[in-house]
Amino acid sequence: MTDFSSYFLMNAEDAAEYSKIQLNYFSPDADLEQTEIGDGNLNYIFRIRDRKTGKSVVIKQAGHTARISDEFKVSPDRNRIEYEKLKMENELVPGLVPLVYHYNEVMNCLAMEDLSDHVIMRNELCEHKIFPRFADHISTYMANTLLLISDAVIDHKKKKEIVNRFINPDLCEITEDLVYTEPFNDINKRNNVFPPNSDFISREIYSDKKLLLETAKMKFDFMCNAQSLIHGDLHTGSIFVTRDSTKIIDPEFAFFGPAGYDIGNIIANLIFAWANAETTMEDETARKEYTRWLEETIIDVLNMFVSKWKELWKERVSEVSATYEGFDTWYLGRILRDTAGVTGLELCRRIIGIAQVKDITSIASTEKRLRAERLCLRTAKRCIFERDTITTPEQYLNIVRWAAEK
Ligand SMILES: Nc1ncnc2c1ncn2[C@@H]1O[C@H](COP(=O)(O)OP(=O)(O)OP(=O)(O)O)[C@@H](O)[C@H]1O
Ligand SMILES: [Mg+2]
Repeated sequence: MTDFSSYFLMNAEDAAEYSKIQLNYFSPDADLEQTEIGDGNLNYIFRIRDRKTGKSVVIKQAGHTARISDEFKVSPDRNRIEYEKLKMENELVPGLVPLVYHYNEVMNCLAMEDLSDHVIMRNELCEHKIFPRFADHISTYMANTLLLISDAVIDHKKKKEIVNRFINPDLCEITEDLVYTEPFNDINKRNNVFPPNSDFISREIYSDKKLLLETAKMKFDFMCNAQSLIHGDLHTGSIFVTRDSTKIIDPEFAFFGPAGYDIGNIIANLIFAWANAETTMEDETARKEYTRWLEETIIDVLNMFVSKWKELWKERVSEVSATYEGFDTWYLGRILRDTAGVTGLELCRRIIGIAQVKDITSIASTEKRLRAERLCLRTAKRCIFERDTITTPEQYLNIVRWAAEK
């Protein structure tokens, strides 16, 4: 049996052995059971549980390529980045992320709290379930993580040190390609267009030169604006929920980028849930009730984010130039502009690009799926073109409703 002194990809039995030898988490007489529970694209996730005590832990290991395909070469250093980001988040937003216990740079694996009592939010939204605490939790998560790890609060030299630790070239390249580039030009022929929507996408997206120009501007902003330490992949598949609890997982894409990237991802993914409900729920009363909850959630997420951000700004910002009158409003305005733009990008890339979302792909009827896809794409274009003037949640909802009527 290995002593884990050199790297190899573990199976579930190896992970159990690892937890015994390396973690000091279970007692020596533990009766362990182990399962690979990962269903993601990139990494291997193992749950190890002591049958005697019920105590359990989750181990996440990164390979040198993606779990789903050897074609994607991705540095396993992403596991260190995920660990370091989770450690910071445990300080900034305790209770909203899994506890992390351990990281091993040889094995490229981390150990964290087992959240098996939670469920992935996207799956629940597809079942049209409601999460009353979500807006409060996610707005706290975003306001704290995005403001408190930025130049507005942290000493600039210290911030540059942190930037250094979060240089994340491989994962940024994935975002640059899959979010900012390929959905708009299919340059690598990896897009995954729903065939009945192919003409619409060629006409409305690939052929729209004005749209291409706007995506280029936003891509350069993503690459050049080291504003905040962002999660980088904050969609509803990276969020674990119960009715009362929210846990944000999987921050392996973390790096210093535009704060609006995380917020826009949340808004877009709530819009996917809205599009699913709007097109698939037959019962009118239930549909109206559920879409209204999603609309209220979009309103609360943005409004609560803004008010929490403003409060924190008053309490925590010490950078001298940032305290000049009017700067706070200007700075937040830029973030809200980026939020609208990224909402549009995420809406496009999940419909057109390689990585899609169940909210849309699970819609069985061709006619309903087409309606949902076009609703998202029409919303996306307006969010991108009008991003300079979209500042309130009601504006998003007006656009979504307009797109649903088309
Ligand atoms: N701490 C945890 N407790 C329980 N289950 C977990 C935990 N972390 C991850 N999982 C399970 O493993 C799945 C994949 O996790 P995660 O999204 O972190 O993996 P990934 O390989 O990075 O996926 P992606 O392709 O989305 O990047 C989750 O959807 C969840 O079901
Ligand atoms: Mg991941």
